[in-house]
Amino acid sequence: MSTPDQQFAFYDLHPPMDDMTAEVCSGMRESPKKLSPKFFYDERGSQLFEAITRLDAYYPTRTELGLFDAHLEEITQTIGLDSCVVEYGSGSSLKIRKLLQALSPSAYVPIDISKDFLLHNARTLAEDFPALHVFPVCADFSQAIALPPQTDGMHRVGFFPGSSIGNFEPEPARTFLARVAGTLGSGGHLLIGVDCKKDTKTLELAYNDPEGVTAQFNLNALVHLNRVLNTDFDPQAFAHEAHYNESYGCIQMFLRSLVDQRVDVCGEHIHFCAGERLHTENSYKYTPAEFGQLAGSAGFDIQRQWLDDSNYFGLYLLRAR
Ligand code: AVI
Repeated sequence: MSTPDQQFAFYDLHPPMDDMTAEVCSGMRESPKKLSPKFFYDERGSQLFEAITRLDAYYPTRTELGLFDAHLEEITQTIGLDSCVVEYGSGSSLKIRKLLQALSPSAYVPIDISKDFLLHNARTLAEDFPALHVFPVCADFSQAIALPPQTDGMHRVGFFPGSSIGNFEPEPARTFLARVAGTLGSGGHLLIGVDCKKDTKTLELAYNDPEGVTAQFNLNALVHLNRVLNTDFDPQAFAHEAHYNESYGCIQMFLRSLVDQRVDVCGEHIHFCAGERLHTENSYKYTPAEFGQLAGSAGFDIQRQWLDDSNYFGLYLLRAR
């Protein structure tokens, strides 16, 4: 509960453990076996992802940041002041700090599945921006979410950086964007970063960094499952793999079983053959034309779009119809 002028209020809409168990079990029964990328993001996974964003090989973050720096003034002028910023995934505090500084919104609603990481980031931001109302929501943002009532009537600005839209399959991506358009309301803005299609070598290096951080990030999903669902995966018995699938237009990440093994997943014995792969993530890449089509079919108009000189990454300012 919070009073209307309270600066900080936390909303816990984390899905119940039963839902997570059912989701993991059903993925293990599929062929090929599958695990949702949301299981990457416990506290350690969120830290590993932050480390990925600083890698030389992982070009998306710094390229998006460059676009941000170059166009923030135009973004601010187009959106206007006194808004409520809704961030889908509480990620790199650098980008959100720049946006909050420039926009001076009245309220900020970060939504993230990783509760400790979310609360830590949200508290730090509330301290650093004392005039800002901060209402963190712990939730799976791929599902419908009711925003805190304190934000009713405010001009809503969604923020979805880092090409996280690429982690949805194309049809769920459309459903998600359509839901965001509904949440923001007619005239609401969405500032979204989207990774572009490019040569296979650059793409594959970004997901197979020489430092091995992406491998640790991928394997950490098993450590996370062991902790929260009491499974008994042996992370050392799996190896990280990432390839660009040109016909789908996405990077695909897997954990390949190194041996013939049996894993206890919520009371079920799941068998992995030596060499069998568990599919953990797709990361779709969109040309500007493809993304324009996707956003348009979800109820958004593109108000502005910016690409870097190499056409590696796109930053789009969308407006809900
Ligand atoms: C969060 N998301 C956009 C990242 C991506 O590039 O798809 C997650 C990631 N997976 C491996 N490296 C980074």
